[in-house]
Amino acid sequence: MAHYARGSAVAVIRLCNPPVNALSLAVLQALEDGLKKADADPSVKAVMICGENGKFSAGADIRGFSSPERHGGALGPIVSLIESSEKPVVAAIEGVALGGGLEVALGCHYRIAHMKAQMGLPEVTIGLLPGAEGTQRLPRLIGVPAALDMITTGKHIPATEALKLGLVDEIVEENTIEAAIRLANKVIGQPLGPRRLSLKPIPRLPNMEAFLREALVRVKQQARGWLAPELCFQAVRAAAERPFAAGVRRERELLQVLLTSGQARALQHAFFAERAVRRWAAPSGASWSSAAPQPVRKAAVVGLGTMGRGIVTSLVKANIPLVALEQNLEYLNKGRKAVMLLLEREAMKMEGGAQTLDFHNPARLHFTVDFDLLRDVDLVIEAVFENMALKKEIFHKLSKICKPGALLCTNTSALNIDEIASATSCPQQVIGTHFFSPAHVMRLLEIIRGRHTSPTAIATAMQLAKALKKVGVVVGNCFGFVGNRMMFPYVQQAVFLLEEGSRPEAVDQVLEDFGFKLGPFRMSDLAGLDVGWRSRKDQGLTGPSLPSGTPARQRHGQRYSPLPDLLCEQGRFGQKTGKGWYQYEQAGGRTATPDPWLHSFLSHYRDTHHIKTRFIDQEEILERCLFSLINEGFAILAEGIASGPEHLDVIYINGYGWPKHRGGPMFYASTVGLPRVLAKLQKYSEVHPDVPGLRPSAFLKKLVAAGNPPIKEWMSYLSQQSSKL
Ligand code: 3HC
Ligand code: NAI
Repeated sequence: MAHYARGSAVAVIRLCNPPVNALSLAVLQALEDGLKKADADPSVKAVMICGENGKFSAGADIRGFSSPERHGGALGPIVSLIESSEKPVVAAIEGVALGGGLEVALGCHYRIAHMKAQMGLPEVTIGLLPGAEGTQRLPRLIGVPAALDMITTGKHIPATEALKLGLVDEIVEENTIEAAIRLANKVIGQPLGPRRLSLKPIPRLPNMEAFLREALVRVKQQARGWLAPELCFQAVRAAAERPFAAGVRRERELLQVLLTSGQARALQHAFFAERAVRRWAAPSGASWSSAAPQPVRKAAVVGLGTMGRGIVTSLVKANIPLVALEQNLEYLNKGRKAVMLLLEREAMKMEGGAQTLDFHNPARLHFTVDFDLLRDVDLVIEAVFENMALKKEIFHKLSKICKPGALLCTNTSALNIDEIASATSCPQQVIGTHFFSPAHVMRLLEIIRGRHTSPTAIATAMQLAKALKKVGVVVGNCFGFVGNRMMFPYVQQAVFLLEEGSRPEAVDQVLEDFGFKLGPFRMSDLAGLDVGWRSRKDQGLTGPSLPSGTPARQRHGQRYSPLPDLLCEQGRFGQKTGKGWYQYEQAGGRTATPDPWLHSFLSHYRDTHHIKTRFIDQEEILERCLFSLINEGFAILAEGIASGPEHLDVIYINGYGWPKHRGGPMFYASTVGLPRVLAKLQKYSEVHPDVPGLRPSAFLKKLVAAGNPPIKEWMSYLSQQSSKL
């Protein structure tokens, strides 16, 4: 809806569609009616458009894109109608003006914004482009470089920056609506021609062609298979090179390509999935709507290694006072130095710098080796070595020292939360908070609920994720939880492919072409091969505790590859030692180069184990790696470890570099078609009967037997009892 009201000479049109005033067809119709009414009323001399509840508009109704024919092009003519009005139209921007919302404002002759308002054209992030002539008006207003930046990245900019760019005419600290009405009254009777953006020439650049050429290279490099940024670029280029009407035609053509590309659906799935995971539920009936979080006024981090440092940085950035603790002074000093470096770098990126973060103030960030200083904290995040005995010892200590009610979080990669909690007298306050490296950068926070974890603890951990600007996803407790558990079969397949004849660079290339930032081997070199080696030694899969006589390539009757262990035995831990699956320019180097040593090592290994080398094509690489990961996802859903496929998708997009334009692994499976996924798994499983990861999950089979239902219906095929959440 849009409410029309007339006071004095200025008619007010208020967009109204809570919570974000999305431009549904009903809103558009009402907006059009309002404009026509104002035009027809001779006592109206100007129009002001604003949004209900302090928000201008978050743009087109994304839910409506599933029927593009209803939506495409509906807004453009209305924006034109605004612009062609003979009475001045002023936009009063409060809260957000995004996408179609900003395009409406661009159709207005004047824009006035509240200081705290945010503006942007985020269509690219949902696989589209600003299709209501925004790609043509914005460059005319703020120039091609700034418009291209906003349109191809989708970033939101604050009002202060919008003012500098000339996107708004004025910003105000309060009473935006009154200020807009004042402005509307003031400009009555002034010529509107110069205010109509469609009539404005594009601000020229001395080197436009060269600029566009370089910009295209940059956009393509960053997009890695994501179509929308490049098509956004093409639309802005049309603005730079063609008259307005021709540019608009080009914009429409390009939008049609995107609407039918499949990527838009995937990205919109990701958008709604990220919102759906906020609505967590526990088997006890407790849920996001009934459980209230505890305030976190002060926190602590135990262990300042790779993860602890990033976690401290995140907490400081969220303005949460904290105590950072290490096992001894030597480690403490090392940790403190590293944390300070990270914080200095973060401060440089922020307006206000170090003062905003205030990390030199010991009342906000205190380094210590004294557990006693943890008495008054509301929440502790433990990030010590991945060792059960050590974690239990720490948790036992924490439950004795911390005040009653303090939340005790463990940042374990895979260990059993219930066992850790068993070392405390308050298992209801113990929860897993699995951060991803680097913890101050990666958006995912996997929140693992143990058997006794209370709803308050979950709500508090979710609230913490929000405060840290991360995406919290609540999952159940099992080895590796969701993310790492799905990763195991993926990495395992990648290594098996090497045994059978492939090379790290070939496997990585296929997965990077698919859209992953890093293939499994480059990723493993970055994370450090020693991490997995230690875990396998702890599990008795390799090292001194391996019973003598165990076949080299078999564990518990299943296929096993000792390749990663053999590399570690050679001191090849990845980037940190300058050698891993690749070679690097030096220890700590980042440029991976294929390593002839590894190639001959692999052939020697195959000879030793009498493995016949064969050529493995790209399709097999992709399918064995991805379908085994997806297969584990189905098992996780069936066991109730996650409450829906969108949880798995959010985890993979935000924690594992899964290309967002493919919607996450489970959405991808739905686009490939479950019957095909099943058939391929069956085929590979027949060839490799000793690899359980390739054996199709019963849930996948059930869904195929049920006729390949849409992803939204999958969970309805599971019985309630299976939930372990
Ligand atoms: N359409 C439909 N629903 C929308 C929406 C939209 N454009 N924007 C937000 N919503 C919904 C959310 O799904 C959520 O619903 P839920 O409560 O049922 O989960 C609710 O509004 C509140 O949104 P958030 O939870 O995201 O609230 P936040 O305060 O965290 O964020 C926001 C607000 C910054 C506006 C964020 O929602 C956002 O980025 N929205 C999308 C903006 C966007 O992409 N606009 C472009 C649309 S495409 C377009 O305009 C095409 C045009 O060029 C023709
Ligand atoms: P790390 O080895 O870099 O750091 C561990 C730190 O804990 C060391 O600085 C050590 O001195 C400290 N520590 C050990 N005993 C302590 C004690 N008694 N009191 C205080 N501090 C103590 O390890 P990293 O990589 O930071 O991992 C920490 C945890 O995070 C592990 O459980 C790991 O599995 C998990 N994790 C690691 C990820 C990674 O990419 N490195 C990703 C996600 C989780």
